[in-house]
Amino acid sequence: MVLLEEKLERVKDSEEKKEIKIGIVGAGYVGLVTSIGLAYKGFKVLVFEKNKEKLNLLKKGIAPFYEPDLQKFLLNSLNSGNLEFVDEISQLVKSCKHIYICVGTPIKEDQTYDMSFLDAAAKEIANHLPSNEQKIIIIKSTVPPGTAKWFKKIIYRYRRGKKTNIEIASIPEFLREGNAIYDFFNPNRIIIGVDNKSIIDDLTQIYHDFPAPILIVSTTEAELIKLASNCFLSTKISFINSISDICEKLGCDIENVRTGIGLDNRIGLDFLKPGIGFGGSCLPKDLEAIISLFKEKQVDPILFEAVKKINNDRITLLMNKIKKALWNIKGKIITIWGISFKAGTDDIRESPTLKLIPHLLNEGAYLVLYDPKATHNFKNQFPQYSINPNIKITEDIYESTVNSNLIVITNDWEEYKKADFFKIYELMETPIIIDGRNIINYPEILEYGFEYYRIGVIYEST
Ligand code: UDX
Repeated sequence: MVLLEEKLERVKDSEEKKEIKIGIVGAGYVGLVTSIGLAYKGFKVLVFEKNKEKLNLLKKGIAPFYEPDLQKFLLNSLNSGNLEFVDEISQLVKSCKHIYICVGTPIKEDQTYDMSFLDAAAKEIANHLPSNEQKIIIIKSTVPPGTAKWFKKIIYRYRRGKKTNIEIASIPEFLREGNAIYDFFNPNRIIIGVDNKSIIDDLTQIYHDFPAPILIVSTTEAELIKLASNCFLSTKISFINSISDICEKLGCDIENVRTGIGLDNRIGLDFLKPGIGFGGSCLPKDLEAIISLFKEKQVDPILFEAVKKINNDRITLLMNKIKKALWNIKGKIITIWGISFKAGTDDIRESPTLKLIPHLLNEGAYLVLYDPKATHNFKNQFPQYSINPNIKITEDIYESTVNSNLIVITNDWEEYKKADFFKIYELMETPIIIDGRNIINYPEILEYGFEYYRIGVIYEST
């Protein structure tokens, strides 16, 4: 293990840095933010994205998904001339020494990662590798431990004995959706995984001026650090959700309890917010992946299975709260504020709302959905819901509450807090709120006359 301090002296100056050309394969959350961030820092960055529709949008300077400040930084990097989107992977393989792999690794039905995009990238790269120049391939996609080693082996296979000079690194990305640009420039740590120390200088040239410690480990250790970090965050969330359940039985307020727990420096308040469960493209996927990994290696995955079960049970608990609050669900209009898995993003992958909707439809409710950014993705990805007569999707928060019998809050946009609750009280038929993220100002909300229920506070009517 080597910390950056020992390496700083070898770092080249910033003029030399600007000569470094970096290739990025895949312009999803990680790839696009990394590309824009590195271009902003002065590197020349070439990006290949195989989805032509997305590539064309990016060439025009249009961000293909919502992320705060992304659009601004995209235009800035394009205008600076440091960022270029290319049509062929060969263009970046030929001209860049550093090639980042940021392709997707969705989870398959058997709960293991789908490595086909990585395999395809390895093949493409192998086809275009020059035999006389060294290339450093950096895996940034979220992958199971051991992937970097596999990737190198696969490239050699596809090269079929041709002269090849590549090294592999694993530099996992820890950015959060909704804070991606901020997190890129302000990481807590930079983990550089290498199996051949000769490339450390090449990599620290890129990372030396980030305001974070650099930890140098093996590629497999880097991959495990990423997986275990996300699973630790999931564990914290399921832990606090469990404690919130017992708070409801004991008549305690989880906000007081979690503050008391989190003020211990060893524990901390971050990721101790109770709610209706974690979603998104990373935490649920990595939890499945670690369970599969433990089973494959014959290590007991009991801890992570419990974390998963607690998370899955959140929707049942929420349904129980809804039933208890409404007494009869059939024929009721239920407003759902929240489609994305959290505030700050239009990403709806593994959003708890998607699990809630079928339960409510089965009970015979009419649903009105509102989200500040995610309605578009919802309509595109679930066309069957768009034409379902029992579901209405609105673009206006007040319209979503007209004649409603209940508002269920499933994600944590600031906009909800700032809504005019006097007006909403008048618009609703029965003014009841179930706040699945404890976001609304309490007890102020009671002054408007609402029946209001939150997570981890005694359930009796307030
Ligand atoms: C996560 C990791 O935080 C990030 O480091 C990694 O690179 C990618 O995966 P992200 O998926 O963007 O980031 O979301 P995150 O902010 O971690 O939230 C995940 C889920 O947990 C959300 O549904 C959120 O609402 C929920 N959550 C988060 C809680 O329920 N309680 C909390 O205290 C924090």
